[in-house]
Amino acid sequence: MIDMSKPIGPTPLDRPGGLLGQPINRVDGPLKVTGRATYAYEYREPQNAVYGFLVVSTIGKGRISAIDTTAAEKAPGVLLVMTHLNAPKQAPRGQGTVPQLASDRVQFQGQPVALVVADTFEAARAAAYLIKPAYDAEQGAHDLAARRAGAATPKPRNGTSPDSSKGDIDAAFAGAPVKIDVTYTTPPQSHAMMEPHATIAQWDGDQLTLYTANQMLPRGTQTVADTLQIPKDNIRLVSRYVGGGFGGKLQVQPDGILAALASRQLKRPVKVALTRPQVFAATTHRSDTIQRLRLGADHEGKLQVVAHESWSDNTPGVDDFETAAMATRNIYATPALMTAHRLATLDLPVSAAMRAPGEAVGLLALECAMDELAVALNMDPIELRIKNDAQTDPAEGKPFTTRTLVPCLQKGAELFGWNKRNAQPGAVRDGEWLVGMGMSAAIRGNPMQEAKASAAFGRDGILTIRSSMTDIGTGTYTILAQIGADMFGLPIERVRVELGDTKFPPSPGSGGSFGANSTGSAVYDACMNLRQALVQKTGLNSDGAVFERGQITVAGKNVPLETLVGDGMSADGSATPGSSRKDYVQQSYGGHFAEVGVSEVTGEIRLRRMLGVFAAGRILNAKTARSQAIGGMTFGVGAALMEEIHVDKRDGWFLNNNLAEYHVAANADIPMMDAVFVTETDDRSSAMKSKGLGELGICGAGAAVANAVYNATGIRIRDYPLTLDKVLNGWAKGDEGQRSGISPSLSPSPG
Ligand code: MOS
Repeated sequence: MIDMSKPIGPTPLDRPGGLLGQPINRVDGPLKVTGRATYAYEYREPQNAVYGFLVVSTIGKGRISAIDTTAAEKAPGVLLVMTHLNAPKQAPRGQGTVPQLASDRVQFQGQPVALVVADTFEAARAAAYLIKPAYDAEQGAHDLAARRAGAATPKPRNGTSPDSSKGDIDAAFAGAPVKIDVTYTTPPQSHAMMEPHATIAQWDGDQLTLYTANQMLPRGTQTVADTLQIPKDNIRLVSRYVGGGFGGKLQVQPDGILAALASRQLKRPVKVALTRPQVFAATTHRSDTIQRLRLGADHEGKLQVVAHESWSDNTPGVDDFETAAMATRNIYATPALMTAHRLATLDLPVSAAMRAPGEAVGLLALECAMDELAVALNMDPIELRIKNDAQTDPAEGKPFTTRTLVPCLQKGAELFGWNKRNAQPGAVRDGEWLVGMGMSAAIRGNPMQEAKASAAFGRDGILTIRSSMTDIGTGTYTILAQIGADMFGLPIERVRVELGDTKFPPSPGSGGSFGANSTGSAVYDACMNLRQALVQKTGLNSDGAVFERGQITVAGKNVPLETLVGDGMSADGSATPGSSRKDYVQQSYGGHFAEVGVSEVTGEIRLRRMLGVFAAGRILNAKTARSQAIGGMTFGVGAALMEEIHVDKRDGWFLNNNLAEYHVAANADIPMMDAVFVTETDDRSSAMKSKGLGELGICGAGAAVANAVYNATGIRIRDYPLTLDKVLNGWAKGDEGQRSGISPSLSPSPG
């Protein structure tokens, strides 16, 4: 058992020349590009499956007054129509239960109101369109700004209070000679993963198997058990490949529960996939936020006060809130620090974790506010951050395991050519394009979790690693293979990794950037235990045993592993954070640097180039790590410039519920982007000595883009995303006071 209550010390993985850290290609790459990797809807194991299709509500709030299913039931091929009138009883909605078709209440548009099962997908879909429920619609509340005043203090999240306070905020703010008081808003956002949610359910007696798209299998098993009120041990979840999650597959969604219910009733496997519009509303999204920031500093730029208040919203009865101000507790040193989160109840689909929940949108606000403070101080924004870098956790005074923010900022400044930036907004042009540079800091927590794994040698000399860990596209299969290979001195071809199945030892899965550290440490422990068993089997004095090239060198003898394993040998491993997360604050760090052009003709904003510099402990695979980082940065560009769910404030509809109109930054939006890493190891983070990378890239990325837009134009847009209409409005209002040298004839007319 790896217990991180104490630092890990030297490990076999520290040995130079191993595979760990190398830019190894994804071991699952060939399966994916040849279509042989099975995603949830594609498993062939369940025979004779039939097809379910959802009907979803078309009102924002109210009740179903009548639901006539006769036409659907008579339609060709239909086997079952399930509504709230005949759905099996499930547990009431609560923490960790997601009952479906439970009553006539409609809480939001897009809520499932019926499931049609037929012998083909087309028959199920055609019959589903025959169901037209009648509703008693009620006026709902769909606008956070209108409900902000009535927002309540939410319950603590994972034991962390929504509020923190240190010092006298009001006095400090009143007394600060340089200060800003600004409000930023971020829109609702959708995970927009490539693979829509889908499940195939199969019952064998009282044993239920769900082939599904899920990030955290043991938690998913618990949700299904609690919702269906059946024993957890009777449920198996399989998610061998997941086509992106970004938080949208942390929870079991309606497809999983409804497939299970229908399959039990029909005594046949049932497949249910959500359509893309259904994914937007019937699963989760990220809440919009309103964030007020008060920053005060002395004339030299030393922070005297930071106050960050955030409002978000959720469906009635769901207390998840967007933890936007949490990172503000860890980033800058200040004698007075206040953070607060409030949650409004809205009649909208359920909001939950998405892509660095908290930091992603919190830093969109904080890191632009810091830029505004730098402008007010007439100080370089990097210098302001360096001057206020925290050496102990600002909120609680705890030590950091490592603190590597400043090296990231310095290295980034050098590589990006920050010294070429003109601090005067609107002063640089390239044809019709006004050009600006912006930066931001990045910070993200590293919450290692308990995890288990196993390692086994077969008589063929192949090492097999098993865990219910998932690979949601991040490269987990590959890094776990690298760990296994290095622990025994094997080539990567001699390691097989089997994931995504709850019949394997339980892993918390992929979420919160804890995947590689948590499950990697469990794999490390399993390999250590297996090494020990192998050395014992040699019968030689085990001191100084070395595993290299598939053999053990011990007491001067070389013993091939195959000769020891016989019919096979295996060992289990486990890892726990112990007290490390209580004793220390663990963060990963970064700096983002962006250059944008803003067309003075159209107001269009185009990214020109972008660099991220990150410190996240040991980098396990240079290629997959870089891909993670630039993927996050790409999402950050999207958050800054384009991503937004448009909500119809009258009835709560998500209007652009498709990937054509909900635009995620794509290749054409990202001309030149790079990510580099600052070398560090963190021996208190995990046996990997690495820190979470999955979500670090997005943290702060959009703020660097927004700050570049300000530098290009002199317009400070505080309402994300920064679209061209907001640029034009800024010009129309004359916000560009500092803009110089722009031909009036080219300026857009105020009309
Ligand atoms: Mo993440 S939002 O914990 O997948």
